[in-house]
Formats: sequence, structure tokens, C-alpha cells
Amino acid sequence: MESKFTQSGTAQITIDGKSYDLPILKGTSGAEVIDIRTLNKQTGKFTFDPGFTSTASTESQITFINGAEGDLRYRGYPIEQLAEKSTFLETSYLLMHGELPNTSELKQFTDTITSHTMLHDQVESFFYGFRRDAHPMAMMVGTVGALSAFYHDDLDIEEEAQRDLASHRLIAKMPTIAARAYKYSIGQPAVHPQNDLSYSENFLNMCFSVPAEKYAVNPIIADAMDKIFILHADHEQNASTSTVRLAGSSGANPYACIASGIACLWGPSHGGANEACLKMLNEIGTVDRIPEFIARAKDRNDPFRLMGFGHRVYKNYDPRARVMEKTCHAVLKELNIKNPVLDVAMALEDIALNDPYFVEKKLYPNVDFYSGIVLSALGFPTSMFTVLFALARTVGWISQWNEMLEDPNQRIGRPRQLFTGAAARDYVPASKR
Ligand code: CMC
Repeated sequence: MESKFTQSGTAQITIDGKSYDLPILKGTSGAEVIDIRTLNKQTGKFTFDPGFTSTASTESQITFINGAEGDLRYRGYPIEQLAEKSTFLETSYLLMHGELPNTSELKQFTDTITSHTMLHDQVESFFYGFRRDAHPMAMMVGTVGALSAFYHDDLDIEEEAQRDLASHRLIAKMPTIAARAYKYSIGQPAVHPQNDLSYSENFLNMCFSVPAEKYAVNPIIADAMDKIFILHADHEQNASTSTVRLAGSSGANPYACIASGIACLWGPSHGGANEACLKMLNEIGTVDRIPEFIARAKDRNDPFRLMGFGHRVYKNYDPRARVMEKTCHAVLKELNIKNPVLDVAMALEDIALNDPYFVEKKLYPNVDFYSGIVLSALGFPTSMFTVLFALARTVGWISQWNEMLEDPNQRIGRPRQLFTGAAARDYVPASKR
């Protein structure tokens, strides 16, 4: 990756009366950053920033978010346009290569991905090692990590062609692994990939067809699935992406790095939020109970938070939430589902958006607010929601991993700490404690 930042000024920091100059760097969009790479060398001090709320951990040219405006762009293209006009595989090519493919590039990319959809037959035995009621995310972390055992010895991550091969394998095999985890968790036989279907059709077929019956994928549902994958494909330096970069910064195997991203994504503050949001909407149950839950969310002594609301970066409506809301209505209409939870969601959104607490704190619906309703309408149990997120985010993770390895400024990630533990002391034998 060729660096594209320029120096736009100089910041000065004064410590004990002595001033130090630090360059201010300007990218192509977004906030400027103070380059503190020489700070420790110059001053002997580190910075303190738990949760990285003020820290840019890397230069990147993939995804841009303007949280104040509610803008999300992949390689410059607004998410709304991609969700409406592109497909997941075309968007994947864009994320990986930086430009939209022409017709023959897209065909070649699609053929390449399609030719890697099958799992090595021995991967099947990993599934049989899991308890029959294992959470599908547990199976995803384990099985994706296990791919490193199949593709390790011959993998040289310094070589672009080999990185590409690993990237294609991951994008291609994630739907097969995700669907296999689902089938295993419900005790149904594995359905193998069918390469005459599109990426999303194939995934739905592997999840919902059974050997005993004919199954045809509904094109409107496949389109909704594809949109959901596009919306989740990348989100710049979020917790799971930073985890993948940190794991990869040591030169680790890419399958193991992606497994670390899946582990991070699992938590309820990140990918697990849509599961938590749907549970919350079901718990609220009826519109008249909304004020009770709003009051709880505002109560500092109550740990309850309105799930699907608020975001570290968006201080405006999450643009993905708008597309998700539209998709949600389209899916429920197509499937002729009347879901009272949707009524609760719409009323809750309306009330919260007009409540001074949420307005002042700039808490808006995020992508997870409507996605749980759509995914359950598509037929997925809540335990699969984060799995679908992981499937879609794999292309983002792998694009960021590739970018990191091509970055001349890349070094092993090694944050520092502000130590407040015990001072040095001598060991005391157990008999004298
Ligand atoms: N309900 C009620 N109050 C909230 C909420 C919420 N959902 N979110 C934030 N706040 C309050 C919070 O209590 C704090 O108040 P105060 O300043 O009085 O202490 C203030 O808003 C700022 O919150 P924060 O926790 O400092 O903000 P953060 O940037 O660290 O947290 C968040 C972001 C997403 C973890 C948080 O908003 C949250 O827990 N939301 C619910 C979970 C959720 O929907 N997560 C999905 C995120 S989108 C998916 C993804 O991209 O991974």
C-alpha cells in the first residue's frame, strides 16, 4: 500500500516547560491526526487511551465513516448505493482490490470463489467433535481456526498470490461452514454447496434445504440476504477488525487471524447486539410497555441499555439501519408475516428519537436494530445472527489483513499500559504469609 497522507501542520506538546513538535497528518477524508510515533523517543512518555477512543491505529484506504453525518463508504462508494445496485461478490471484489470489477473481472472473481466453496472432507470430523447443542459461533471460531491446520505449511503470506488464495478460500468457505454449523446445531444432515447458485442463494440453500424435499430459493429473500451481507462487509477499524490486524501483525496464519476476529465479534457490544436487540423487543412485547424500558435505559443505576441504539462512531442515524429497515419491510411483505415485534420496534424508535436523553447523547438506531427482525423472518434462529455477521465481515477482515501486510509502516502491534499495581516486593514463603 502506498501511503497517501500529507503533513498539514505541527502540534506542540509542552512537558515540564520543554516543547516538542509533532506532525499533524491529513488523509483524503476525515479528521486529521497527530503523529505521536516519536513521542516516546522524544519525551520518554506514552499516551493513555483505553478503548482507543482518540487513536488512529493505522492508515487505511478501504472504508470511511463520517459518524457525525451518518456516512459509510466502501472505497469511496456510499453504502446505500452498493446495497441497492451491487451484489455481495462485486462488493467483495471492490473491498479487496480497491475498484469495482469490469464484467470479465467479476466473472473471473465469481468463478474463483465458486471453485473454493467445498470444505475438505476431514473438516466434517471437526463438527462431530462438538456437542450437539453447541452454539454455532463456537463452531465457527473452532472450525475457521482449524482451517489453518489444512492450509499452513504451504502458505507464505509474503507472497501476494498466496494471500489471494487464502482470501478467496475464506470468502468461499465461510457460507459452507456457517450453514454446516447451523445444520449440525439442529441435527440435520449437511447440504453441500451448489455452484450454479449465486453466493447468497447457495448459502440459503445450504441452510434451509433438506435431502428429503425439493427447495427453491425465493429470489426476493436471496436479494435481502445479499443486501444484509453487503451492509456488514466492512466497518473500518472496529473491535473485531482491529483484533484481526493485531493477530496478523505477528505474521500469524490468516485462518487463525480470522478466527480471532470471529471471537471478538461474538460479544453483545459488537456482533451479538442484534441477538440481544431481538430478545429485548420480545421482552418489551407490546407498545404500552415501551416507556418502562425507556425509563430503565435512562436510569444510571440500572445496567440495562436499549439494544440496537448508540454507536461508538455514529452520532447520527447509522446509514445501514435505514437500508435494513427497508429490507425488513420488503421481507415481511414478501413472506406475508405480520410481526408484532416490528410494531414495537417502530414505536420504540419513534419514542427514543424524540426523547431528550437519546437526543442529547446522540443515540440513534444502529444496524442491529432491525436486522434481528429480518433475520428471524428469513428463518434463522437468534444463535445464527452473529454467524451471518461473521460470514459477511470475513471479506472486510481479509481485505484489512492484506492491506496491513502491504503497508510499509506495519509493525507488530504492541500497546503500552499505565501500571498501577504493586511496586517491586520480595517473595514470601507460604508458611510466612
Ligand atoms: N441505551 C442507553 N444509554 C446508552 C446507550 C443505550 N443503548 N448507549 C449509550 N448510552 C449512554 C451511556 O450510558 C453513556 O451515558 P453517560 O455519558 O451518561 O455515561 C453515553 O450514552 C455514552 O455511552 P458509551 O458507552 O460511553 O458509548 P460507547 O461509544 O462506548 O458505546 C455502544 C457504544 C454501541 C457500546 C453503546 O452505545 C451500546 O452499548 N449500545 C447498545 C449495544 C448495541 O446496540 N451495540 C451494537 C453496535 S453496532 C454493531 C457494530 O458495529 O458492531
